[in-house]
Amino acid sequence: MITQLQFSDIQKEELSKLIGTITTSPYKNYRLFKQSITQLIENGQVPSFFVQACEQVRQERKYQGINAHLLRNVPLDTVIPEFDQSDSVNDKYAKKMTFVGEALLEMFAQLTDSPLLAYRTRNNGDFFHDVYADKKYSNTQTQKTDGELYFHNDRTAHPVRADFLSLLGMRCSEENLIYTGYLDGKAILENLQAESQEWLRKPLFVTPYDEYSRNSNVKQIDSELHPILENTHTFRYYDTRTTYAPDAPTEAIKALVDLKVAITKAKKGRVSINKGDLFSFANQDSLHNREIIQVNDQHSAEKRWLLKTYSFRSPEAMGVYNDYFDANLPGFVVAE
Ligand SMILES: [Fe+2]
Repeated sequence: MITQLQFSDIQKEELSKLIGTITTSPYKNYRLFKQSITQLIENGQVPSFFVQACEQVRQERKYQGINAHLLRNVPLDTVIPEFDQSDSVNDKYAKKMTFVGEALLEMFAQLTDSPLLAYRTRNNGDFFHDVYADKKYSNTQTQKTDGELYFHNDRTAHPVRADFLSLLGMRCSEENLIYTGYLDGKAILENLQAESQEWLRKPLFVTPYDEYSRNSNVKQIDSELHPILENTHTFRYYDTRTTYAPDAPTEAIKALVDLKVAITKAKKGRVSINKGDLFSFANQDSLHNREIIQVNDQHSAEKRWLLKTYSFRSPEAMGVYNDYFDANLPGFVVAE
């Protein structure tokens, strides 16, 4: 189930005016940037419609197990630059002079009480990433690909993984039919035999790191052995990449086959993220993919840009990983 919230142009304008007052670059000083958003919230300056919307998201996640929310017509930067597709991250630092998208994502994270997560070895330690095609990663299973992505969680191989992902449509052409598929862990579980569930809960599986992670950190080759299923319906899985350990028993291999069947059978949601849409969904309690149904405008498809954040479910959930963080900046992973 995906909850949809639609904002009016008047609401968007009101929020836009407030967010436009943020001038600190989150790429130069995230701590100060974060503080300036906290200040707006604490001063009661955030329009009540947005506070209420975020509170609804927080409550639905916590009490109703609804883990996917689509907020439509949120503020964006007036100037949305195009980046060099061989070095988009550095080009962004040079060309992006306002931080409306970033401030919107930070405000959403704070008001839903789900603090952001970043990795020192990923995109220079930025808390705001780009889903943007890089020529070097064409046709790979990474955030910089121009192609489809199989069902997965983000950073499957990494020990510290986000509970939620947020994707903000910065530049998307409605001419192109590109969808983010959403598969709730509950729906997978319903299709999974009890015996398979038991085997999937054992650390008999392994996930190699993706090409982008390996290039950022040469030590990142394979994950440790891990279970695929944890808690009630938390999945740690990247289709076509996560596999059984070399000495895993036949039952574990059968369970993996059964999981693939369950994924095929399970009911899926699908969202076309358009410009000004914020889609926030569970990373670990569900799987997601990217389907490219039809590209009518190749140029726009290449320049499609989603601004992305990783977040924890709550400050308590973040606290579990304290040993990994910079002592002065919780959520910033420095130990790998
Ligand atoms: Fe992903």
